[in-house]
Amino acid sequence: MSHRLFEERHHASLYQKYRFDPPDELKEIILQYLDKKHASQKGQPHQLAVDLGCGTGQNSRLLAPHFQEVVGIDVSESQLEEARAVPGFPNLSYRVGTAEELPFPNGSVDLLTAASAAHWFDPERFLKEAVRVLKPQGCLALFGYGDNFKLHHESCGDQLNYIYEDVRQVLRPYTSSMVTVANIKLQDLFEAIPFPDKERIELIPVKQQLTIKNIIGFYETFSMYQAYLRAEPSAATALLERTTSRFLEEMNVSSTEAKLELIFEYFCVLACKPQ
Ligand SMILES: C[S@@+](CC[C@H](N)C(=O)[O-])C[C@H]1O[C@@H](n2cnc3c(N)ncnc32)[C@H](O)[C@@H]1O
Repeated sequence: MSHRLFEERHHASLYQKYRFDPPDELKEIILQYLDKKHASQKGQPHQLAVDLGCGTGQNSRLLAPHFQEVVGIDVSESQLEEARAVPGFPNLSYRVGTAEELPFPNGSVDLLTAASAAHWFDPERFLKEAVRVLKPQGCLALFGYGDNFKLHHESCGDQLNYIYEDVRQVLRPYTSSMVTVANIKLQDLFEAIPFPDKERIELIPVKQQLTIKNIIGFYETFSMYQAYLRAEPSAATALLERTTSRFLEEMNVSSTEAKLELIFEYFCVLACKPQ
């Protein structure tokens, strides 16, 4: 059974607006891994990348210049509608579907990615499909970030982190157990990958300059925030209003366009199907 926590239109449009692109360092790590494994084709564009749980397409679009064809797959039609509305990527298409049942022939895919999504998949069925559709020497790149975000602005880093911690505490009861799988960096899924050639990079540090408005929008995209909003709409709205006021006060600024630094870490599971 697929997890259907990303179906609402409002949630999808928040995703398009406030989820950030994976960083260049991570993209380079993945492409270099693929190049190393496909050494015989060096310099050639790779043929097919499939981005699973693609959401509104942030990662799919980053892959597009490096492949002849990229296909984004997601169970949520609303997310795909947002993804399709972004113009300028003629070799990128999107299909409704699940990571556990892929519409590709055996041995046809060069790279399978999942950005902040693999923790939602049924591990056994997904890995069986991955083994089936990947070409020999085809690669898997499953990545994401945990919830250890740190905030910083001039001298008020600690206070900003207390504010974020308060949000986290309120949302804890609404957090799916699947999200904890991401927070432990897909350890079990990594172990279950049936390829001997695999590695897990645990710490890819990232710093982003975001406005207060962007940070609040990012919290709003969290599946646990959306669960809280469904259960207690007024309390959920009040939580973000209160958090916004606390950020403004702590940073001693009057506009939500004021910037602060968000520091966090990506992890990435890489694996290569044997020849
Ligand atoms: C946290 S979002 C990540 C979206 C996007 N990759 C990103 O980085 O912003 C997880 C996405 O996975 C999708 N999803 C969940 N289970 C899925 C499954 N079994 N097969 C395909 N997509 C799935 C959801 O609909 C959602 O769009």
